[in-house]
Amino acid sequence: MKEKLAILITTLALAGVAGEVFSSDDDEHRGAAWGKTADVAAVSNEQYRAECASCHLAYPPGLLPAASWEKIMSGLSDHFGDNAELAPDVTKALTAYLVANGADRVNYRRSVKFARSAGNSAPLRITEIPYFRKEHREIPARMIKTNTQVGSLSNCSACHQRAEAGSFSEREITIPGYGRWDD
Ligand code: HEC
Ligand code: HEC
Repeated sequence: MKEKLAILITTLALAGVAGEVFSSDDDEHRGAAWGKTADVAAVSNEQYRAECASCHLAYPPGLLPAASWEKIMSGLSDHFGDNAELAPDVTKALTAYLVANGADRVNYRRSVKFARSAGNSAPLRITEIPYFRKEHREIPARMIKTNTQVGSLSNCSACHQRAEAGSFSEREITIPGYGRWDD
């Protein structure tokens, strides 16, 4: 009888642990189990950096789904009010790089979150994605819009100094004029 009880308790304990691991829908858990440790992949294409980082940082491809990159790259002549058109062969090569490394094509921890949050939509902006908005909603406007060194949330590298390296860790955030972000 005692033995049976011990076995029952052990079984229940194991089931409890297993249940927590397998049924957890928490992103952090999954990220740790499936994803690579970096937030998103670093920018790894020199041509991309040369062509797409003159007006803003070279956004790591893992911040937008593949369909978003296709849309952006097929509309470069009217790119957020600017003309960012490139030679057709360059456009083709960069599109291939961006699409292959889009948020829904890789399993980096943070890319998975951006991809899931974008769902079936193909937003033109990272800053439109609900997950992005949620992560930034507590930052006061004086640190962004009226901060001459930032201007807008599209300027990722103003605060995430290692954005092109794919790092968005909260420990690495410095807001210009305000110092390190302390949550
Ligand atoms: C001539 C300047 C210029 C060039 C070159 C340029 N962009 Fe942009 N890009 C802009 C402007 C302006 C915005 C809007 C920024 C804002 O609202 O603060 C923008 C925004 C973006 C955004 C959205 C950022 C957000 O708000 O989430 C993406 C993605 C982007 N660009 C990708 C690219 C890619 C890919 C290339 C290279 C093919 C490129 N850009 C080249 C001017 C440029
Ligand atoms: C004005 C400074 C600023 C700008 C610009 C900015 N961020 Fe952030 N970001 C923050 C702060 C501060 C946090 C942490 C917010 C919190 O803890 O409440 C954050 C959080 C994040 C997180 C979540 C990090 C974590 O550990 O949970 C990601 C991912 C991120 N930002 C990506 C971006 C991207 C991509 C851009 C550009 C499109 C961007 N951010 C632009 C300040 C900024």
